[in-house]
Amino acid sequence: MPEATHTFPASFLWGTATAGYQMEGQGTNTDFWQWEQTPGHILGGRLSGDACDWWNGRRWQEDFDRAAADGHNALRLSVEWARVQPERDRWDEHALDHYRQMVQGLRQRGLTPMVTLHHFVNPLWAAAPGHHIWETGEAAALFEQYTRKVVAALGDYVDLWCTINEPNAYMVQSWVLGAMPPSKKDIGLALKVAANLLRAHAAAYRAIHELQPQAMVGLPVHFDWIMPARPGFALDEWAARTQFNMFSSLFGDALATGRLRRPLMPSVPVPEARGTQDFVGIQYYTGIVARFDVSNAGQLFARRSFPPGAELDVMAAAGNMAGYASYPTGLFETLSWVQRYKLPIFITENGIGDSEDGLRRRYLIRHLRELWRAVNFNFDVRGYFHWSLLDNFEWDRGWAHRFGLYALDPDTQVRTARPSAQLYSEIARSHTLSSDMVSRYAPELKEQMFPG
Ligand code: BGC
Repeated sequence: MPEATHTFPASFLWGTATAGYQMEGQGTNTDFWQWEQTPGHILGGRLSGDACDWWNGRRWQEDFDRAAADGHNALRLSVEWARVQPERDRWDEHALDHYRQMVQGLRQRGLTPMVTLHHFVNPLWAAAPGHHIWETGEAAALFEQYTRKVVAALGDYVDLWCTINEPNAYMVQSWVLGAMPPSKKDIGLALKVAANLLRAHAAAYRAIHELQPQAMVGLPVHFDWIMPARPGFALDEWAARTQFNMFSSLFGDALATGRLRRPLMPSVPVPEARGTQDFVGIQYYTGIVARFDVSNAGQLFARRSFPPGAELDVMAAAGNMAGYASYPTGLFETLSWVQRYKLPIFITENGIGDSEDGLRRRYLIRHLRELWRAVNFNFDVRGYFHWSLLDNFEWDRGWAHRFGLYALDPDTQVRTARPSAQLYSEIARSHTLSSDMVSRYAPELKEQMFPG
């Protein structure tokens, strides 16, 4: 049988994405650790603990070996601010050295590091009630100082940077839905935080470029592809557009225009943020449909659900909107949509929670087919980072939502490859997705994807 092959550019980065707090373990000096201790905050009640033991046990070494052995050529990780600056007036050189060894370890294994400076978590000193730096506006100057420290320490090995992970998800989870610390439900405050996130990003962007002119710096955004529940019905169209404008496109547009949009109010000028990204970081997980709901003012008059007919992960199937639906065309639509920014693109996260791994294989294949289509439209996509290398601590969902190519038993720290790890390895090694891979890893897709 002849084999059909989808080929990606030779220079493409194939990696996985991770985050410090979710992998390292014992992130005790942080707002998230403190928040975890309140019963009911973490689904299932099992806390982050040692997570994947990347800090004290230094198990990052064996995991980087796994990524390299699987043929990946990149890995995204994040630096935990609380480790580098444990107190407001104290820097920890040992922590910086630990991170330096990690990024050097990536280079030694042939993996290009992409480093995120803030991924949802703050040092305790920065998040004191009443003095939370993202609320007061102190964040920009402090985040810039911290950024300078990290870039000076890691700059020999790293020139791909993400400043703040998913400012839109962070703002919504922490200040609109209350699902992460500081657990507030206050849209007005959330928008103030959004402006402060942009200012801190802009300050970090300039600092990085001052220290490292060749750096590529991005602000990766959580991109839900949001559609009206009843297409053509004006109120649903409005609800979907508002959700998209106030979530998926809020930060990207602000970087393009220097203005932060607000619902039913004039936008806020943030001129220093204009033009401060070198690539668009897309974190695409799910499609969403929005239905107008006059009773839901707290979420801008929309009721969200998953696209009809889409395959759902365990959380979504249980009716939890923190879950995800497999909606691959949404990735292509997102890639088309961001063409307006005229910048290179990285898929900085994409993945699905599935301990059984059947859905993950289909999800990976179908999303990469959309990515390949985009590459064939000459969209300037430079790489793909799958979330995640191994199961890790999934925030308020604890250990109930498993995203790893490798399964992790957090009791024993044993890692076990899921079939998707092997599939992704074949893809990364060959820079291709082929009909033969589909036949072997997800034969149920063969007829639909390669009917010939
Ligand atoms: C976050 C990750 C998270 C992933 C899966 C993303 O929004 O950046 O930290 O684990 O989603 O839910």
